[in-house]
Amino acid sequence: MLVAPSILTANFTKLNEEIDKIQTADYVHLDIMDGHFVPNISFGPHITRSINHLSHIPLDVHLMVTDPLYWIDQFALDKTEYITIHVEANDAEEALKKIRDKGIKTGISIKPNTKVYDIVPFLNDIDLVLVMTVEPGFGGQSFMADMMEKVKELVELRKQKKLHFIIEVDGGISNQTIDICKDSGVDMVVAGSYVFNHKSPKEAIESLK
Ligand code: DX5
Ligand code: ZN
Repeated sequence: MLVAPSILTANFTKLNEEIDKIQTADYVHLDIMDGHFVPNISFGPHITRSINHLSHIPLDVHLMVTDPLYWIDQFALDKTEYITIHVEANDAEEALKKIRDKGIKTGISIKPNTKVYDIVPFLNDIDLVLVMTVEPGFGGQSFMADMMEKVKELVELRKQKKLHFIIEVDGGISNQTIDICKDSGVDMVVAGSYVFNHKSPKEAIESLK
C-alpha cells in the first residue's frame, strides 16, 4: 500500500520536524483549499514551496479549489509528482491538460456525492483517481465505508478497459479502516490525523503500509 500523510493535521509551527517524521512515507499529501470549493482555507503556494524544499519524498498535491486552472502553475514544483483536481471544479478537462503538459502526473477526484460515471470520460489518460471517503474540507472526520463501492467499480473499469491509473482514498484512514481499503483494491491512502496524532508517525505509516 502506498501511503501519503496529509500535513493538514501537522503542527505548522515546527514544519521542519513534522516533515522529517514522515520521510518513510511514499508522498507528502498537500490539501489545498480556497474557501470556496470547500468551506475552509488551508495553506497556499508559499508554504508549499517550503515543504517542497524540506521534503525528500515527492509531493501529492490535492487541489480543492473552484478554479484549478488558475492555481496549477504555483503548485507545479520540482518535487510535485501528482496534481489532483476535482471533477466538480471548473474547466476540469483544460486543467488536466495543463498538468499533463507540465510533465506532472494527473489525478481526478470525486466527492462523496459524485458518481464514478462522471469521471469515465477522463479515465483513459489519467494517472490517479482519488475517491474522497469524507466530505472534503476538514481533517479528522469519519471514514465513509460505502465509498468502497466506487473503488470496486474503478477496479473493474480499469481491468475492462486495460487502463493503468492508481486508486487513492482520502479521509478517515487509520489502522481501523485500512483493511477494508486494501480488500476493496485501493493502491494509495492519504492519512492526516492518524499519522500526525500518533505517538510515532513512523509506526503509523508502517502499519498502513
Ligand atoms: C479533507 C482532506 C484530507 C484530510 C484527511 O478535505 O482532503 O486529506 O486532511 O485527514 P484525516 O486523515 O484526518 O481524515
Ligand atoms: Zn486530500
